[in-house]
Amino acid sequence: MFKEKTYCGEIIMDGQSKEVSLAGWVDRKRDLGGIIFIELRDITGIVQVVFDSSKSAENAKIADAAKSEYIIYVKGTVRKRSADTINPNLPTGDIEVEAHYIEILNKSLVPPFPIDIRDNISEEVSLKFRYLDMRRVTLRDAIIKRHLLMQAIRKYLVENRFHEIETPFLNKSTPEGARDFIVPSRLSKGEFYALPQSPQLFKQILMVAGFDRYFQIVKCFRDEDLRNDRQPEFTQVDMELSFVTPDMIIEIIEGLLKIAVKEITGLDAATPFKRISYTEAMSKYGCDAPDTRTDVELVECSDIFRDSEFNVFKSALAKGGIIKGLAVQDNGRISRKMIDDYTAHVRVYGAKGFPMFKYNNGVLEGGISKFISEKEKNEIVQRFRLTGQALIFFSVDDENIVNNTLSHMRIKIAEDAGLLDRDKFCFLWVTEFPLFEYDQTNKRFQSKHHPFTAPVQGDIEKLGNMTIKNVDEIKSQAYDIVLNGTEIGGGSIRINTTELQSRIFSILGISEEEAREKFSFLLEALKYGAPPHGGIALGLDRILMILLKRNSIRDVIAFPKTQSGQCLMSNAPSGVTDEQLKELSIKVITK
Ligand code: AMO
Repeated sequence: MFKEKTYCGEIIMDGQSKEVSLAGWVDRKRDLGGIIFIELRDITGIVQVVFDSSKSAENAKIADAAKSEYIIYVKGTVRKRSADTINPNLPTGDIEVEAHYIEILNKSLVPPFPIDIRDNISEEVSLKFRYLDMRRVTLRDAIIKRHLLMQAIRKYLVENRFHEIETPFLNKSTPEGARDFIVPSRLSKGEFYALPQSPQLFKQILMVAGFDRYFQIVKCFRDEDLRNDRQPEFTQVDMELSFVTPDMIIEIIEGLLKIAVKEITGLDAATPFKRISYTEAMSKYGCDAPDTRTDVELVECSDIFRDSEFNVFKSALAKGGIIKGLAVQDNGRISRKMIDDYTAHVRVYGAKGFPMFKYNNGVLEGGISKFISEKEKNEIVQRFRLTGQALIFFSVDDENIVNNTLSHMRIKIAEDAGLLDRDKFCFLWVTEFPLFEYDQTNKRFQSKHHPFTAPVQGDIEKLGNMTIKNVDEIKSQAYDIVLNGTEIGGGSIRINTTELQSRIFSILGISEEEAREKFSFLLEALKYGAPPHGGIALGLDRILMILLKRNSIRDVIAFPKTQSGQCLMSNAPSGVTDEQLKELSIKVITK
């Protein structure tokens, strides 16, 4: 009976009236005294079905018994609606189906929230009754857009000579900076697989195998603290290419993201995207994933205040701190109360205060202006190129706190001042990252990206003289792609010799024995004619979240986990039986 089924949202009136058979969920029902209207919903949308009791009392009775979310099967004739009953809000709003057959295929409990109304439900309820929330238009559209995007990406990459190849989930750890999810092995007792944080090592080995362009739309697993743009399992569009330069990879990704923007928003993204170095990003924006939807930039002012008598500035500089500021022309939108709130808020970034003053047609006034000398005032006006009226805010502390504070406040203040365009999509490449950074807590060097990233050719000889102080000077061939202040992808040219790879491991404090134990398969493969290669991985969930203007990647994933890593629908994670534990030789120690 379903063979001839038509989709509700696709019915059109093309000339003659026609017969259709439909199956779906009862979205809404109205009874206008003997005439029952059911809005019938399936994956494509909604169509109105009419039951006239004067034509079939039996059918009207069944229609009356069909409640919200019941599944019904209907046969009927498509007809045009009269002009006064056309529903302009419905794509099928100019037609309706006059039913001559109805069957209830299944009943439904009363859903815990109305499916047909767009009001918000709590995230907890959405996650618990995910199958019901996915019936609603907002989540359903996100999931369909995700599907369309995945198809478009596949098509584009295949056209660009990529092969789609799967890599294993059960394997050894691939370090990407997070904890691994581990899976006990039953056959090798006491031993564990690690779920991949990314397919990094396998994709490099595919290059050695000669597949010169690989891609995979793949789940990755990372046990880390969750945020709105982080899930413990998420999807990467993962790629690796042989015989490439960063410019070639960047061009391919720009083509892919252009298609993504078109597919999801219908807009044309202008390419090439802007590129800035890591050093410039840190200096102008205080972070390596800046939001460039506003022109507000950070300005270094330490030199202006080197002889300052103002105690706050003087003592911070004496301790080796820095002073940076930002200026906004707020057109009176930022009130005294908002400034007080900023001052309280900056504490979350570790700042002790948020000094500021105003510029008013040539005069600096208010805030800390009375502590600033004429010479300093003149330099400030010039450095910030102040004209008209503006507010100038400063952060004074050690470099990390200053950058952390101002990178966040820059966005908040720009938004409050009406200087951040929420409708824009601003892509930015950040390049020339340092190869390493120093981890103060564990007192060791660590990779800024991952240990397989190649240094800039000219910096290889500097490796021998690297210290905590000059660690930033050794640059990597890594690049990140940022969209509206969120890192949506990252990649690099890789090391393709065993010698250099072993040397990097040793700088990272990975002993020869540990390197052999963890990465011998890579070190071995690199000895058999490993081509020059590089790649990138894009975060599919994040791209969708931003392009669809959703607040969290949970809003673009069919079955996401909560902030504490739980699936509220299936109640995972959960305990296992004693029998299962015994088979795995695992003993659980509970507190
Ligand atoms: P990286 O670790 O930067 O690089 O990851 C690539 C992209 O994946 C997304 N991402 C996440 N999305 C959601 N939840 C998470 N927990 C999460 N973690 C990362 C981000 C990020 O930019 N192997 C390298 C890539 C390479 O060098 O080719 C890698 O995985 O958008």
